[in-house]
Amino acid sequence: MASSPPIDARPHLDAAERAHIVALVDHSLAVIEGNQAASGAYPASPSFPVYRYCWFRDGAFIADAMSRAGRAASADAFFGWCSAVVVARAGQIDALIARRERGEAIAGDEFLPCRYTLDGGESPEEWWEFQLDGYGTWLWALDRHAGRHGGPLAGFAHAAELTVRYLVAFWAEPCYDWWEEHAEHRHTSTLASIYGGLEAASRWDELTPETRAAAARTAGEIRARVLDEGVHDGHLTKWLDGDGLDASLIACSTPFGLFAPTEPLIVQTIRALEEELAHGGVHRYSDDTYFGGGEWLLLAAMLGWHYVEVGRIGDACAQLIWVAAQARSGGDMPEQVSGHLLAPGSFDEWVERWGPVATPLLWSHAMFVTLAVELGVAGAAG
Ligand code: BGC
Repeated sequence: MASSPPIDARPHLDAAERAHIVALVDHSLAVIEGNQAASGAYPASPSFPVYRYCWFRDGAFIADAMSRAGRAASADAFFGWCSAVVVARAGQIDALIARRERGEAIAGDEFLPCRYTLDGGESPEEWWEFQLDGYGTWLWALDRHAGRHGGPLAGFAHAAELTVRYLVAFWAEPCYDWWEEHAEHRHTSTLASIYGGLEAASRWDELTPETRAAAARTAGEIRARVLDEGVHDGHLTKWLDGDGLDASLIACSTPFGLFAPTEPLIVQTIRALEEELAHGGVHRYSDDTYFGGGEWLLLAAMLGWHYVEVGRIGDACAQLIWVAAQARSGGDMPEQVSGHLLAPGSFDEWVERWGPVATPLLWSHAMFVTLAVELGVAGAAG
């Protein structure tokens, strides 16, 4: 934000808390770097079989955290991997856009997937693949990384051009959400992620004027559509024409900037999330049953990041402390914790199906790092 006051977390963290957090940030960076493949890909979780793939969504937030923490080479490697994945599918993207222009129906499983093998191939397992948000998020993260570290964008121009054309053509398509559910809806946080990427790309000199103009126009259309169809009772809704909440709505302001963090619509949305889903830990949505519907570390950290943006530093530190307290004894962070389950009866079935909750989850570590850096508790240099 333009004229934010300097952030001083010191009154809210004692020396022991600060030392614990600094050690956990170091551990988090080591977990992320240690698991990054030579290709640049980050597995969502190395030890949870169905998460041994690289998602554009998780990966982009992880790269963004690494970039914030001064680990530019790690972020560069990830963006190089994204670029190669997208450019390798140039023919598929062109064909999809041509079919759309001819008015042909396209099935969900014909679109780009949400996750790939670490060497950029397609996963052989069935998955809820059609998700658009990650393609916006990687553009957004690359833009912020280039701004932060001054890296040239030219090498990414082809991939960015393809990604923008893909998103401009398909942003309004219903698809699976951040949680890989409800393919029948248009999800507000998915639209915000696409907005974040397109708004960033609309400012890149490396893209053609036509591409930049299309990105800017579509970003405007997304904002108008969300205002028209994604608001109920003064707060944003989980999907268009709905009335429910989802904690991923935080991302509509922090970080994607679809709405400023102080706009009444966001203030009301955060208030509604605080009432329904957030109490230190943050649930995804009220009828979540995945692993019993626990509290997600990455959402708790994202809420803290939002608090930093609006100057609620004490609340942001409380989120940081809460996330730190969820680390296992060696410092690894799980996807979610089970002390306060929304649907306790649904916990065991997931453990039987896929094993214990994914730990370490690199996205949890990444959001913790981001919050610590934004609070000035961990260094951004390096
Ligand atoms: C989450 C996704 C995430 C994936 C890998 C899923 O359970 O719902 O948001 O991308 O795990 O971490």
